[in-house]
Amino acid sequence: MHSFLVLALISFVSIIGASTPEQVHISLGEDATSMVVTWVTFHATPPPIIQYGPTQSMTYKHVGHTDVFESSDHTRYVHTGTLPSLSPNTVYYYKVGTADGWSKQFQFKTFPAGNDFKFRVCVFGDLGYHHGNSIPDLMKAADNEWFDMIIHVGDIAYDLDATDDDGHNIGDKYMRELEPVFSRYPYMVIAGNHENDHKNFSHFHHRFRMPGEVGGHHNNQYYSYNVGPAHFFGVSTEYYGYKNEYGTAPILSQYNWLNNDLQKANTNRASRPWIIGYQHRPFYCSNTHCPVDEEPFIRIGEGNIPGLEPVYIKNKIDLQFWGHMHSYERFYPIANMFPQDNGQSSYTYHNAAAPAYVITGSAGCHTPKTPFGTPHPGSVFRYSTIINFAHLTHTVLGLMIMDIQL
Ligand SMILES: *[C@@H]1O[C@H](CO)[C@@H](O)[C@H](O)[C@H]1NC(C)=O
Ligand SMILES: [Fe+2]
Repeated sequence: MHSFLVLALISFVSIIGASTPEQVHISLGEDATSMVVTWVTFHATPPPIIQYGPTQSMTYKHVGHTDVFESSDHTRYVHTGTLPSLSPNTVYYYKVGTADGWSKQFQFKTFPAGNDFKFRVCVFGDLGYHHGNSIPDLMKAADNEWFDMIIHVGDIAYDLDATDDDGHNIGDKYMRELEPVFSRYPYMVIAGNHENDHKNFSHFHHRFRMPGEVGGHHNNQYYSYNVGPAHFFGVSTEYYGYKNEYGTAPILSQYNWLNNDLQKANTNRASRPWIIGYQHRPFYCSNTHCPVDEEPFIRIGEGNIPGLEPVYIKNKIDLQFWGHMHSYERFYPIANMFPQDNGQSSYTYHNAAAPAYVITGSAGCHTPKTPFGTPHPGSVFRYSTIINFAHLTHTVLGLMIMDIQL
């Protein structure tokens, strides 16, 4: 009798758990007046609801929609909704769920109105659930409001689709552990090589909702959005890296989109002066194992496949973030392999003649830090364990680094 009761209790608990929202996270819509809220349940639920508002009574209701994500280990129900027309510079409280189970209350703060305000972005790549060295610092920085949004430049959780030693999925564990951060600050992601699960990036595609649509559906591989004085864009270097697996069509669609997007952003510099990009694999690095064989293909293309660097130079992008190397390295503005001196005697970032680049791939993962070799002539600063913060105003783009406690 006693053991029967225990069994009954356990199955009851697991049913409740399966409809309870988890892995709650937010991301930016195409402009900073909307916020996308996404979460997971392991059972089907009634239509998902986001209850939200500028006071703790959360008097607004938004009904989202559900995508069913069948993966090899589980069926996940990924619920998402875009909260439109939010008031600027306002703290919103929210919870998500249905009659079958609600999350606890979370909060986020919207950006100020207009294009002329100051904000900070936390940028890192290559962060694992295991050996995620920077996670305690990241959580502390989030508590202290040291940043307003996050950009993760690929290689997420190691890996989103992987099964841990205990038989559970690592992607779920990572998104649960970082829920306190990702539910509060927009978490913007781009695919790295570890997001290729040989099923068309299925976990990366289903777990996240980046802005914009391709063919009527969200497309996390390439997209852009605006925050105050900055136009941000993310692109996939994995289309290049896995050309043999996925073909050349995605490279070409991305390229056409990028060309148009940057051209448009470039005509709008007076009101939005900064263009900032991110992608996983670098064009340049000076580690001992820089993937020099794949760099030229991504950077300048091959045959009738265009590379990415000429578009960046032509449209005068200011700065781009990279990951992939498990280290930190900052470069002077570089074009076609060479640092650019802007006609003056020394290299400079001021009204630079070419994009400046930052590798920030040392957030912490399963492999040792990548050692450095001979510095690239454009290399300014190298370090092994750093997370990068960018702070922006209409006239100044600053970089700040946080050394990770090991
Ligand atoms: C891969 O997924 C994208 C959406 O991210 C879709 O547009 C494309 O058609 C898919 N490709 C294949 C081969 O299934
Ligand atoms: Fe990588």
